[in-house]
Amino acid sequence: MRARVGVLISGSGSNLQALMDAAAAGAPFDIVQVISNKPDAYGLTRAEAAGAPALAIDHRAFGQDRKAFEAELNAALRRADVEWVALAGFMRVLTRDFVEAWSGRLVNIHPSLLPLFAGLHTHARALAAGVAVHGCSVHHVVEGVDEGPIIGQAAVPVLPDDTAATLAARVNRAELRLYPAALAYAVTGVAPALTQDAESLIALRQP
Ligand code: GAR
Repeated sequence: MRARVGVLISGSGSNLQALMDAAAAGAPFDIVQVISNKPDAYGLTRAEAAGAPALAIDHRAFGQDRKAFEAELNAALRRADVEWVALAGFMRVLTRDFVEAWSGRLVNIHPSLLPLFAGLHTHARALAAGVAVHGCSVHHVVEGVDEGPIIGQAAVPVLPDDTAATLAARVNRAELRLYPAALAYAVTGVAPALTQDAESLIALRQP
């Protein structure tokens, strides 16, 4: 049984693309609904090109009413019979009600080695902190932002000439390998085999 996954995005959708490519290549999940809170997100174009049902639910239409926005998200996810929700660059904080409704079936990718650098501007903060290793994490979502049990992480080196942009690009390449593997692991409980890569080290957390 392949898991029915809904993906929430806000932007470019490179992680969404990696998940759709993995699904097409036989990963144990299907992307059955893509939702962006930004109508002009490039990820919606990617979804349409891949034949995945895509929808914009503009959070600005709901003003400060986060519950009404999330009710729309939930309704669309339920209509598509979604079993798992994957956040992929979704830049809205979700309320406790939403997180509890999807508890254990809601995952996120974050561009740092959590618990380091939760929040925004992770690459600039990693450079400012002088760390030698940076990366990304896929984790279960709980109410606290960027908290929740880690499913897997990818580590990349910080190189001497790095800017936030070059470091972000290296981390993003690692994200595109990590997210499909970590999502496959989350939905099946079986860690997929990972090939070596010269640039990053990926590890899935064993229970
Ligand atoms: C990714 O780097 C993801 O880790 C980050 O946004 C980017 C989305 O890129 N997510 C967060 O910062 C969440 N707090 P994409 O739209 O190309 O997948």
